[in-house]
Amino acid sequence: MPSYIDSILKESRVLYPHEEFSRNSHVKSMKEYSKIYKKSIENPEAFWAEKADELEWFKKWNSVLRNDHGFFKWFEGGELNASDNCLDRHVKSGNANKKAIIWEQESGKNRIYTYGQLLKEVCRFANVLKKKNVKRGDVVQIYLPMIPELPIAMLACARIGAIHSVVFAGFSSDALKDRIQDSSAVMIITADGSYRNGKVVSLKDNADNALKECPTVKNAIIVKRTGISINFVGGRDCWWDELMKEKEISDLCEPEKMHSEESLFILYTSGTTGKPKGILHTQAGYLLFASQTFRYIFDINNDDIYFCTADIGWITGHSYIVYGPLSNCATVVMYEGAPTYPSPDRFWRIIEKHEVTIFYTAPTAIRALAKEGNEWPNKCNLSSLRLLGTVGEPINPEAWMWYYETIGKKKCPVVDTWWQTETGGILISPLPGATPLKPGSATKPFFGIAADVLREDGSKANLNEGGYLVIKNPWPGMLRTVWNNPDRYKKTYFEKFGVYLTGDTAHIDEDGYFWIMGRSDDVIKVAGHRIGSAEVESSLVSHRAVAEAAIVPFPHEIKGQAIYAFVTLKKGFDKNDLLKEELRSHVSKTLGPIAKPDKIQFADDLPKTRSGKIMRRILKAIAEGSAEYGNITTLVDPNVVKILAENREK
Ligand code: PRX
Repeated sequence: MPSYIDSILKESRVLYPHEEFSRNSHVKSMKEYSKIYKKSIENPEAFWAEKADELEWFKKWNSVLRNDHGFFKWFEGGELNASDNCLDRHVKSGNANKKAIIWEQESGKNRIYTYGQLLKEVCRFANVLKKKNVKRGDVVQIYLPMIPELPIAMLACARIGAIHSVVFAGFSSDALKDRIQDSSAVMIITADGSYRNGKVVSLKDNADNALKECPTVKNAIIVKRTGISINFVGGRDCWWDELMKEKEISDLCEPEKMHSEESLFILYTSGTTGKPKGILHTQAGYLLFASQTFRYIFDINNDDIYFCTADIGWITGHSYIVYGPLSNCATVVMYEGAPTYPSPDRFWRIIEKHEVTIFYTAPTAIRALAKEGNEWPNKCNLSSLRLLGTVGEPINPEAWMWYYETIGKKKCPVVDTWWQTETGGILISPLPGATPLKPGSATKPFFGIAADVLREDGSKANLNEGGYLVIKNPWPGMLRTVWNNPDRYKKTYFEKFGVYLTGDTAHIDEDGYFWIMGRSDDVIKVAGHRIGSAEVESSLVSHRAVAEAAIVPFPHEIKGQAIYAFVTLKKGFDKNDLLKEELRSHVSKTLGPIAKPDKIQFADDLPKTRSGKIMRRILKAIAEGSAEYGNITTLVDPNVVKILAENREK
């Protein structure tokens, strides 16, 4: 497969929206898009205030936007509740019987929650939280697989004003422990286990291990999903079902009146250095942005059935399974299990079974499923589909075209949506009824988003010149700070240029289209998952055999990027395959299976400058099998490069 950059340079296809699609969509032409975009940039406060009026408020705001020494405040003075906006509002307007969540289990069974039923469950669980003494402003740790209790727990937290912090259930106990210690959560909600590829995976053991070093957590609520036996800790652990059944637990729970800038949730994500950072999103701005982007970019109509394959443990699930769709009264399909279980047509079968109209997934899944062959999707009836989406990493034009032709049958626009945990919602994406598509480009900024590409010195890059992708103005869904670390917020995102630094590189073409090229920092996107080199390096160095480790990405046909580790061993340890396997499983245990290096090369020495800095640029070239190392004369020992290249893992 040619590299992404090679193929975008050659990419010249343009695909125009079909007339019928445009006619029925929210934004029907580029002219209309440009007019609204212009208005949103010229007067963002008026634009967002008008949009905010569409939410339900207990009290309207006094000011739309305020810059408090670099910390942005939206809709101050206003009061609302996210769960009220996602549930009560729709029940009151006659949608109690509309399907909110269609939950497809890995076993093939499904369970449906209407808006009325979901509201009742959320209220009951909110009352359970209150009974367990969770207060407004407390952090609640959620560590659950893709089961309905996950969105129910999130919305129940939102209802009582508790801050949820969801950790992806595929993360290890160490990763969970780090996050709980940083957030000081008072409670954890987890499950006995989960289903994955037909097998039961234990979850409670991980939680128990993490909790050994998390004294702030006083209570644990456990969902019985698989029935496997667990270690039940008396005085701390309770079963979800038993608490929900208690007679005194009411079906009604008044939503708290939350101030616009009170915290809604924390979600941890990897950065360049150190431990993952807790990205903080607040009430009104986040909800408004998730809601508006969902409506326009997925062009949602009342009878759509929308299926997003992300895990709710990531931001995509937060914004585009929970808050975006539910605030729009949409019907969401949420799937519990693995994409290829029991066979590689699982997603296509789900689309057929539930007559899905809008499908949102990641390039990794598209590439992996394309590789399985066209017979799988071709056996399924995909005629209900009208719109496709992708997110998480650059999509190569080949995969884009396969998605468009084989899944969308050339009639469904593909929205390539660029955004980040920090941005809360999509910032760059086509609007499907308006934007002509170029395979591999995320196209144009959403309303109110002043995206640009800058050079190292802060000047604007020329057309087609690669540079730093930045956002020059605040938007309602942006992160408000890094939990416990406001300095890190300022330093990471605003120090370099004084405007929001995304960490990505991109270029803009002559039509004003954005082409995302990848990360400019030490974050690696493995199968769309965001992994910090520093975390994997610390994990490796925590193994008794390892003296030093350096991590770089290398291109991978399915995962986009994979991890290549250069490892030097302590004296007395043998370089052998057994040790490589042990190191892989060590990373898997300490961080989670998604962070496992695909390749490990033992090295006696790493390329270092005289000041002791490891030259990753050189290691990256070696891992890619390229001889273009750049300048190596500043190295202590330039010979190291040759030795490493000769022993490269193929
Ligand atoms: O590098 C970009 C890539 O994913 C990063 C954000 O990762 P995360 O916070 O985990 O959020 C992922 C889901 C929103 C970005 O900095 N990325 C995301 N979407 C795209 C993308 N790269 C290229 N094209 C995209 N559509």
